[in-house]
Formats: sequence, C-alpha cells, structure tokens
Amino acid sequence: MKVVIGNDHAAVELKNEIMAYLQEKGHEVTNFGTDSNDSVNYPEYGEKVGRAVAAGEFDCGVLICGTGVGISIAANKVKGVRAAVCSEPTTARLVKEHNNANIIAFGARIVGVETAKSIIDAYFDAEFLGGRHQTRVDLISDIENR
Ligand code: RB5
Repeated sequence: MKVVIGNDHAAVELKNEIMAYLQEKGHEVTNFGTDSNDSVNYPEYGEKVGRAVAAGEFDCGVLICGTGVGISIAANKVKGVRAAVCSEPTTARLVKEHNNANIIAFGARIVGVETAKSIIDAYFDAEFLGGRHQTRVDLISDIENR
C-alpha cells in the first residue's frame, strides 16, 4: 500500500521504527513528519497528511504525536478524513472494520514500540466490513456536507 506518515517532535524515534516496520512489510512509505527533536506544531503535520489522504494520493495515513490526539484532531478537520487514535490492537482493527478509518494515530508517550507495531498489524490486516457500517460512515460524511 501507499502509506503517508506524519509526526511531531514527540514521535521522531517511534516514527522511524514504524516506517522501517511498514517498509519491511512491503509498503511504500512517504514521510511528511519532522525528523528533528526541535519543537514543532502538530496541527501542521496532521493537516498535511490529512489533505494528502483525502486527495487520494495515498491509501492511508499514520499519525504520531505525544498522545496521538492533537495530530488526529487536526487531520479530522480535513473533509474526508477519518483519523482514529488507538492505544491497543482491538480498537485498531475495529476502526478499519467499522469506521473505515483512513488514518491510524497513536501516541509515542502512550504506547511502546511493540504495541505500536501490533496496532499497525491490526489496522493493516483488517478490511472495512461495509453494509450497515457503510450507512454510518455515509452519515458521518453527511455531517461534513451540512
Ligand atoms: C507536544 O508536546 C504534545 O503536545 C503533542 O505531541 C501531542 O501530544 C498533542 O496532542
């Protein structure tokens, strides 16, 4: 898959681990995140990744900040983005199966590398189930259009 990843200064090391992990699994990964530990503003990275995913330039996105919350809130302001913060793999599977999340987010200050990898596995191995879940995702899109 074509994957775009973004992060702030709180998540440089975890971003590098996850990029390498995704590449090992055969994904093509584009890095829109910072590679410096100097303080930056997470909304910039959430928006950049969100816009690229919403435009269809990538199959999905991965966002990491300290908690995963700020950067996902920013991404979710972009029409068409469904970014979901997860701190364990069951939620990561369900946000794909039920919500068709197109961005998975987590916090470098919340999860360790192994949990982050299990979140990635659960999300990438899952498929959207459609049906009644499609109806609900469509209702979310309707909110964006009102
Ligand atoms: C940065 O210190 C921190 O606020 C950010 O990484 C994130 O946790 C925000 O939600």
